[in-house]
Amino acid sequence: MRYQKILVVDDEENIRYMLKLALEDAGYEVELAQNGPEALEKLKDSVFECVICDIRMPEMNGLEVLREIQGIRPDLTVIVMSAFGTLDTAIEAMKLGAYDYVSKPFKQDEILLTLKKAEERERLRKENLLLRKEVEKKYSFDNIIGKSTKMQEVFRRIEKIADYKSTVLITGESGTGKELVAKAIHYSGSRRNYPFIAVNCGAIPGDLLESELFGHVKGAFTGAVASKKGLFTEADKGTIFLDEIGDLPLNLQVKLLRVLQEGEIRRVGDTRTLQVDVRVIAATAKDLLEEVKKGNFREDLYYRLNVVPFYLPSLRERREDIPLLVWHFLKKYSAETGKEIKDITPEAMNALVDHEWKGNVRELENIIERAVVMSEEEMITTEYLPEGLVKKAYDITLKIPESRISIKTTVKEIVEIAEKELIARALAKTANNRTRAAELLEISHRALMYKLKEYNM
Ligand SMILES: Nc1ncnc2c1ncn2[C@@H]1O[C@H](COP(=O)(O)OP(=O)(O)OP(=O)(O)O)[C@@H](O)[C@H]1O
Ligand SMILES: [Mg+2]
Repeated sequence: MRYQKILVVDDEENIRYMLKLALEDAGYEVELAQNGPEALEKLKDSVFECVICDIRMPEMNGLEVLREIQGIRPDLTVIVMSAFGTLDTAIEAMKLGAYDYVSKPFKQDEILLTLKKAEERERLRKENLLLRKEVEKKYSFDNIIGKSTKMQEVFRRIEKIADYKSTVLITGESGTGKELVAKAIHYSGSRRNYPFIAVNCGAIPGDLLESELFGHVKGAFTGAVASKKGLFTEADKGTIFLDEIGDLPLNLQVKLLRVLQEGEIRRVGDTRTLQVDVRVIAATAKDLLEEVKKGNFREDLYYRLNVVPFYLPSLRERREDIPLLVWHFLKKYSAETGKEIKDITPEAMNALVDHEWKGNVRELENIIERAVVMSEEEMITTEYLPEGLVKKAYDITLKIPESRISIKTTVKEIVEIAEKELIARALAKTANNRTRAAELLEISHRALMYKLKEYNM
């Protein structure tokens, strides 16, 4: 990065011209101002990347100029020039945000070198900013978080298909983000300025659902006192999201197939058909092919829906996403509750990573929200996680042989197995330092020595 245009501010004419010559020789474009107000005026009209400003000036001194600049262009690089006796002020200027200072009198090389340093810092700053944005962008798409290759693949596909009208079928367990993905497809595509309408096909009774989706004419059935637009008409040019599509009754499956094939709908009680331009995204947690086999779902509709399939992996299949999601939700709920949760203990994070997550991301989100609400510190510890979740970390399944019956001998053996395991772990962690191992085990040094002997370790 190299500056193009520099503003020099000094009340001494010879300094202004000396700098102008030197900087122009070095290839910069230079403008001059002889006092603060003139400098600020020039900053309004023109794009400068750097200001070199004298400190001691009548009217408005360098510090005041600096303060003003920070109000209008806080990211502008300012280098101050201090004459004899103004070093303290120069240092104060740096505290205020000036990049550096040069002491008068200075050689040309000195100011050029300072500029080079400033340019290099600017380059690094921009690079960092870019990198951070890239990382954020890379690991999230429209608020969908995921760095696993499986989720990255999902993001790529969303981008690829967002602009087309092709029907999309999203499958995945409950809470894997099906609705989130449907919205991302709509809002990142060319239909984003038209409606996104979500319908839960499982929540509305069959006969009502037909008129909900397609509308009805006045008098179509008892209670149809006025005609009604259906959701397909309301979603015109936009997207309709048919959630729980596996629950769509068979008679409506036929009608939906016609919409998909002909692009037209027929209101209940109407003889005419209406043209609609709607993209259909369907979602289900059921195995639709299985439903087809059972005769609950039409095969032709299944293939018509499944033009672009999306499978959302369960959280168990992408545990590497869990820490990222945890941080995402910690941030979200800290902001929502006004609490400042800054960290989470490794034990708590491990427990979260190891959990079964039958309810997937929704379950994780709920647990983090609860932890944030409950937490009395700035840190999430296992104490704020549901009990079952933490215990899971040392879940033991015991297979005790039928022949065993005595508590006395059986329990002793089981304890022995557990103790040996923990002692070995503690010794490994401390490189065989028995004093520190005993601390980790929370037993006395003597007790550890005794056990080592007893277990022949
Ligand atoms: N990858 C993700 N990143 C961030 N938040 C997510 C992610 N996946 C899901 N969520 C959040 O989890 C919750 C559940 O997501 P969503 O409603 O999209 O799931 P679903 O698959 O439709 O679930 P269901 O089948 O139960 O309806 C939402 O609050 C959503 O914001
Ligand atoms: Mg859903």
